[in-house]
Amino acid sequence: MNSNSKFHKFAALNNIKIHPFMSDNTLSHFINKLPKAELHLHIEGTFEPELMFKIAERNGIKTKYDSVAHLKQAYRFNNLQEFLDIYYEGAGVLLHEQDFYDLTWAYLTQIHKENVVHTELFFDPQTHTDRNVPFDVVIKGIKRALEDGESKLGITYKLIMSFLRHLDEASAFKTLEAAKPYKDWIDAVGLDSSEVGNPPSKFERVFKACREEGFLLVAHAGEEGPAEYIWEALDILNIDRIDHGNRCLEDDKLVERLVKEQMALTLCPLSNLELKVITDMKQHPVLDMMEKGLLVTVNSDDPAYFGGYMDANFMAVAEALHMTKTQVATLAKNSFTASWLPKTDIEKHHKAIDALLVEMC
Ligand code: ADE
Ligand code: ZN
Repeated sequence: MNSNSKFHKFAALNNIKIHPFMSDNTLSHFINKLPKAELHLHIEGTFEPELMFKIAERNGIKTKYDSVAHLKQAYRFNNLQEFLDIYYEGAGVLLHEQDFYDLTWAYLTQIHKENVVHTELFFDPQTHTDRNVPFDVVIKGIKRALEDGESKLGITYKLIMSFLRHLDEASAFKTLEAAKPYKDWIDAVGLDSSEVGNPPSKFERVFKACREEGFLLVAHAGEEGPAEYIWEALDILNIDRIDHGNRCLEDDKLVERLVKEQMALTLCPLSNLELKVITDMKQHPVLDMMEKGLLVTVNSDDPAYFGGYMDANFMAVAEALHMTKTQVATLAKNSFTASWLPKTDIEKHHKAIDALLVEMC
């Protein structure tokens, strides 16, 4: 008998009323209460339709959708590109610093409800600068919300500037120049957008320059693209973490290397399902990867488009793969291990997770 059921028996025998919080031993409650870090999140991918309509209206922009329901109907994707087309279109209504603030603040208030206590999030400057929205407008709005999130909600953060890989090297270098005055606000650079046909090697020189500027480096690799792109991200870009990385499983030597280096993979289960990387959540590789010794984390990617934030992603894999609470807790611990928080903070979060596991198992 575990400690919780002992407590229930004791309470029943002694006529003690149990508070609903104390009695809720469900997996969803456990997932919600777990402290978590999010390491793969595109702020533009948190743009909920309701907020999109509100901002479009105040900016005098008419969208091609006449209602939230109509817009949501467009959220059916057969692949990454179909999603990206809608995602860039949605971001097109963001014009002013306050728009970027509101977008980021909405995300932070949502994750606060889910006990996400640390986030390392992407923003895609070129999505906005290509529409003549200045770099400083974008970053100032996001940064102000992140500062408020830390002071008012206690959520710590790192900011990752992501290059759009369907654009050319020159555009990435131009973005790096625009970012230099804000260097202290940016912790890392990333690489996202249309993967197939745009290998990491296309950005070798950009990533070298970013490393010289002192940024940490990450790249989306092996989401739709082949295992070869993961090798390139490791050997040519010298990245510190891999975003997605699902297709590493096609290459035993690569898995061996990733395990040996404890190179973290930021997996995104609901994204994988919605973008047809998998056809059923039961096929999700997260558990298989854990069993192989890979350092895997669970993240939401673009939650407004894929049907859920962190709790929903944890719940989706936990249910589909019949995970134990210990396995779920390991994923939460991995999220801090793979983060760029100081060691003492990582240990503090690990201890809190261990304590919750004892309390709720
Ligand atoms: N941009 C936003 N979400 C993305 C994803 N899942 N893959 C590549 N680029 C993206
Ligand atoms: Zn992503």
